Amino acid sequence: MQRDGGGSGNLVLIVDDVAALAQQYAYDLRRLGALEAITAADGAAALELLATEPVDCVILDLELPGTDGFEVLRTMERRGIRVPVIVYTGTGSYDRCAQAVRLGARSFIDKAEPMERVVQEIRTTLERERLHREVAALEREAGRDSPLIGSSPAMETVRAAIAKLASVPAPVLVVGESGSGKELVARELHRLGPVARGPFLAVNCAALPHELVESELFGHERGAFTGAVAVRKGAFEAAAGGTLLLDEIGELPLPAQAKLLRVLEQREVTRLGGNRTVRVDARVVAATNRDLDAEVRGGRFREDLLYRVNAHVVRVPPLCDRLSDVPELTHHLVAVTSARFRMRPKRVSAAALECLMAYEWRANNVRELRNVVERMLIACEGEEIGPDDVPADIRDDGAERHVRAGEPARTFHERRAEAERQIVLAALGRNDWHVTRTAAELGLADHASLLKIMRRHGISRAER
Ligand SMILES: Nc1ncnc2c1ncn2[C@@H]1O[C@H](COP(=O)(O)OP(=O)(O)OP(=O)(O)O)[C@@H](O)[C@H]1O
Ligand SMILES: [Mg+2]
Repeated sequence: MQRDGGGSGNLVLIVDDVAALAQQYAYDLRRLGALEAITAADGAAALELLATEPVDCVILDLELPGTDGFEVLRTMERRGIRVPVIVYTGTGSYDRCAQAVRLGARSFIDKAEPMERVVQEIRTTLERERLHREVAALEREAGRDSPLIGSSPAMETVRAAIAKLASVPAPVLVVGESGSGKELVARELHRLGPVARGPFLAVNCAALPHELVESELFGHERGAFTGAVAVRKGAFEAAAGGTLLLDEIGELPLPAQAKLLRVLEQREVTRLGGNRTVRVDARVVAATNRDLDAEVRGGRFREDLLYRVNAHVVRVPPLCDRLSDVPELTHHLVAVTSARFRMRPKRVSAAALECLMAYEWRANNVRELRNVVERMLIACEGEEIGPDDVPADIRDDGAERHVRAGEPARTFHERRAEAERQIVLAALGRNDWHVTRTAAELGLADHASLLKIMRRHGISRAER
């Protein structure tokens, strides 16, 4: 590798097997374009530099020994390297250039073109890339307020509830399992309501240390307690003219609950250590994944506070109650995640979607699906995410559930799950459902391993 220093901060990688030519190019780029340049003599070296150097643009010869230019483009695509490539060629073959563009190259230039044209082409490419990045960042920013995805009846019910409650000034309680989209619902209530132009502030009551909860919510005056060296506005004041989300309200300590009730009833807040009251005009949304009625029965949540916040409730259904939303959610998550990873979006095969729809999504609902989509995007080398890119635990679990439900096995994974189930059932039958003997016959480590497999397949002695 040879480096040619320049002043613009942009680094160009020139890939050409004729070293003298590459070096001349690097020299000219620096002189005419103030561009920094490094060179590589073959495809493998180019890919190595792309992995280690902050390259902004590649000038790529198509005819290279070993890994040729086309292969470099394919590998870049596979590895998700999104550095723009300009192909240059001495043969002037239009077909080859067109093929390179199909593989992801941005444009092509003839080796015979004057250097000024080459510099111009690089500048245009860099500028386009910069704009592209800017747009992606803006889209990401806007996507934070992204509307709820899903058109299942359950989701339509949620949307209808949001539309009805968005303009109601009274507190709204959003309940649902972890990762089901409670915060997104709260943001929608804000976005569609009269205070949409004001701030949206979320306070996670579970994440605050008990001794700081009240000061965080209601603020404090200077000297209110040791460490309160300056006046601090609380969340209620900071969210003035907007929406305050009290996330995980079920985790609020009892003394803070008493104060919160007073604030909600009187619509005014007093900072800790102060006596001046400040009018509260923030609209309040509370969220919880706990059963607040049970919390009341257990003495951990004030009944009067529950009645103050649960007059209007939005229930966010768990993902397993709206599996028909999985394909739409998956496509959406693939699009936003590939934008975030700066990858070209991939397709998702019908078979992969089937795997995802067979799974229960019990642990973390849409958040779990989002993580699975990230894993699949990284696992998938081609253009389309297939069943083999679905994480094995998700796939096997789904296949086993499918078979257990008595539905015909269609995919390879479902058939394998079914065969496993039949093998276990037959062995149990031969051994009169004696678990230790069956485990021994199947060559399993112990009876616990067999019990685990039986549980996974939903086999119980009742089937005997
Ligand atoms: N209907 C949906 N459409 C699009 N994205 C969704 C949807 N529901 C949830 N998500 C996404 O799933 C993730 C989890 O959602 P969110 O944070 O709103 O869940 P939560 O119920 O507040 O979770 P927790 O209980 O853990 O706080 C977020 O990335 C969110 O954007
Ligand atoms: Mg949340």
